[in-house]
Amino acid sequence: MKVQNKTEELQIKGKKHLSPVMTRVTELVIEKAHGAKFWTADGKEYIDFVSGVAVNAVGHTHEKMVEAIKKQADQLLHLGLNYGYYETAVNLAEKLAQITPGNLDTVFFSNSGAEAIDGALKLAKAATGRPAIIAFEGSFHGRTLGATAITASSSKYRSYYEPILGEVYHAPYPYPSQLPNIDEEDAEAYCLNQLQKLFELRVDPSRVAAIVIEPVMGEGGYYPAPSSFLRALRDIANDYGILLVFDEVQTGFGRTGKMFAAEHAGVTPDILVLAKALSGGMPLGAIVASRELHEKWPTAGHGSTFGGNPVSCAAALANISIIEEEKLVERSEKVGADIVKRLQHSIGHLPAIKEVRGIGMMIGIEFHVETAAAYVPVIKSKALEKRLLIMNCGVKGQTIRLMLPLNIDKDVLDQGLSLLEEVITEAVSIN
Ligand SMILES: Cc1ncc(COP(=O)(O)O)c(C=O)c1O
Repeated sequence: MKVQNKTEELQIKGKKHLSPVMTRVTELVIEKAHGAKFWTADGKEYIDFVSGVAVNAVGHTHEKMVEAIKKQADQLLHLGLNYGYYETAVNLAEKLAQITPGNLDTVFFSNSGAEAIDGALKLAKAATGRPAIIAFEGSFHGRTLGATAITASSSKYRSYYEPILGEVYHAPYPYPSQLPNIDEEDAEAYCLNQLQKLFELRVDPSRVAAIVIEPVMGEGGYYPAPSSFLRALRDIANDYGILLVFDEVQTGFGRTGKMFAAEHAGVTPDILVLAKALSGGMPLGAIVASRELHEKWPTAGHGSTFGGNPVSCAAALANISIIEEEKLVERSEKVGADIVKRLQHSIGHLPAIKEVRGIGMMIGIEFHVETAAAYVPVIKSKALEKRLLIMNCGVKGQTIRLMLPLNIDKDVLDQGLSLLEEVITEAVSIN
């Protein structure tokens, strides 16, 4: 077959040589990106409301980040933290110790969120000497086997690999629309009861190493756990000597209007897991815990060739300093609230929509579960036709999630929201 152009050439090669195992939501060939926009190889401009799935908190190719990456690449590309120390990793660990809550002051670096979750499970098991892990229905923690074992946002992530890890138990998450016949105001008490029941019927709490939770459910539907629920988990963990692990891979670094979602509840977890917006685009994850806890993890019990790569750490340092200098945590809270207000007013009344909600700039437009499958895919493809990239989430695909850069330009934001309002209104009135 004669290849017409670069777009076609790359699509053909990609289809031939990239594994089909990964869901690919568009067939676009993307050439460059900046801020909240990207451009395809055939010269089309798109507005990006996905930000590399909540990675590019400061937008694509922020000048200061690019400069820091280039400078570090000139100096040291890789050495490995098992060889010694280098500036970017040490300074980043110190910075994370300063900005994370409470006594969390010691860091293990990995390359991704899932890898950091796996490490956190290993740390919890090694430090407590206990075998069992409790996670929550609807939660997503990544694709490595350990992270897959505690993920319960869709059976498609687990079915081909069962049995996975030995002792993992799932308790319900206080996300009312996903609970069977439970009123919103009863959701939290129901979930705490179910957890207690789990302890009574399935696993004695003295055998539980960790309770792992996303303080705001991401992939499962963009729903924040009530602060009182997170505080209750803190108390339960304290009572039974269980380690509380917050997966803030998606919520960290200002996404929710606080530097970390844990701050909304005033809870310090024992282990905080970070990735995605930590480095704003370079591969990096982190397991942050107290010195005392890290010291219970026997030396050589874990490690990584690339974890804490000098360039990734330089990107993360630049990224965090941009978030601080541009006051993006505060902006996330304010702009997020404005967006939610606007969308509640413009589309919130449509019968297909159950709720428009947000915590900072972690914003979800939830459709009624019964009809979500009829509307959401149409909305996504219509948006793409109008050059707006959006993504959905939820066990039934019920929530359109907005993951805008925290520093998104007002004009681009307005333009993107108008397109979104237009396609949603059109789709739900035609179907
Ligand atoms: C909450 C949460 N945890 C873990 C992960 C896994 O991160 P990664 O894809 O970097 O392995 C994700 C990815 O979407 C996530 O949203």
